[in-house]
Amino acid sequence: MNVLIIGSGGREHALGWKLKQSKRCGKIVFAPGNAGTAAIGKNVDLAVEPVTQKVVDDIAHLCRHEKIGLVVIGPEDPLSQGLADKLVKEGLKVFGPVADGARLEADKAWAKQLMRGALIPTAEARTFEDAEAALNYVRNHETPVVVKAAGLAKGKGVIVCDDAAEAEAAVKRVMVDREFGEAGDICVIEERLTGQEVSILALVDGRDIYVLEPSQDHKQVGEGDTGPNTGGMGAYTPTPLVNDKLMRQIEREVLVPTVDALRREGVDFKGVLYAGLMLTPGGIKVLEFNVRFGDPECQPLMVRMKGDLLQLMLACAEGKLAETSLSWDKRVACCVVMCSGGYPGAYEKGKVITGLDAAAELDDVFVFHAGTKLDAEGNVVTHGGRVLNIVALGDDLVEARDKANAACEVIKFGGAFYRHDIGDRVLKNV
Ligand code: AMP
Ligand code: GLY
Repeated sequence: MNVLIIGSGGREHALGWKLKQSKRCGKIVFAPGNAGTAAIGKNVDLAVEPVTQKVVDDIAHLCRHEKIGLVVIGPEDPLSQGLADKLVKEGLKVFGPVADGARLEADKAWAKQLMRGALIPTAEARTFEDAEAALNYVRNHETPVVVKAAGLAKGKGVIVCDDAAEAEAAVKRVMVDREFGEAGDICVIEERLTGQEVSILALVDGRDIYVLEPSQDHKQVGEGDTGPNTGGMGAYTPTPLVNDKLMRQIEREVLVPTVDALRREGVDFKGVLYAGLMLTPGGIKVLEFNVRFGDPECQPLMVRMKGDLLQLMLACAEGKLAETSLSWDKRVACCVVMCSGGYPGAYEKGKVITGLDAAAELDDVFVFHAGTKLDAEGNVVTHGGRVLNIVALGDDLVEARDKANAACEVIKFGGAFYRHDIGDRVLKNV
């Protein structure tokens, strides 16, 4: 079966790499893909956003031409714009939820309401459509808050504030300066919680769920969890923060009630449901839902997954997840994200990358491309903020992280930087 993967990040490279291991998997086409995906499949230069009728027609045409049996939609933006709905109407099999399901990620105010209705544990929050009202609220609020643009903002629309002055500035950025555009039409202001964060991802076929191994992402750009949030600087799996008992509790109290609440809303959710949770002194709390594989969480998960990903994705699309099974490499996988200097702010593109082959040859090391492309001379060059995702397997987290960092040392490009401390929050218990 031929597969089309929509997206261009490390997540899509890792999904394609894993799908290729399936006996049933034929050709993989990426739209648009990156320099890494070009080496394992065919890249098609096709813009997928905004999701207009022309985009849908182009993808449907491509699928007929390439005899595609399954379309996998990686990122949240096309999902929230209804790409899955429209491709299903074209008669295609799709892994990824319809727009009504993607709203769980694309509309944080709606997601809060759904959680409240289903008694799912989450941070207390207020929602504002008016900047003055939001400013008044934070000025008179004594305990620390987190200010969030309700819409999609590439993982950057969340501002964690220490005091009222910071909260006021954050509300201004979201609602007055419109730093995140329309995503800031509505602002969610939440109580600031403390505790370790974990990412729990589950495959969902509309009714049944299959929970994947727990992972921990590192969102802040700087070592020691400092500086602004990014799309994710590194992740590892499994995390000892979630034992079997806690996993079952998360399944029972968060994931199953969410899928049930979606069904009550008439949403047939097929794809990945990702709960970003904080383990607070008061118990587990949902910080956010995503409706797709996490990036970078997906990359270490794929390296450890032993099942047939194509079969699992088809089972989700067909509502047959109960008939599948899955096992995992017992080792720990750690992913370190190599970035362009300046990220998550402005950065330059087009820097030549060297050392990729030498790094990939290291034992238990896997190199996934994110923001890369091939230039006219055939060099792999930087083309995004998050450039490469280096995953390594080890008997424990320290070994996996050390191997990933050693592989990063081998890879060079102008301005490159990465966090050397992925996993420290649990290793040092901070
Ligand atoms: P989100 O995209 O909503 O998960 O937020 C991004 C990051 O902001 C999270 O991974 C947390 O580190 C932080 N964050 C979000 N909500 C809260 C909260 N209520 N309390 C403390 N930190 C938060
Ligand atoms: N790693 C966080 C995300 O994918 O949103």
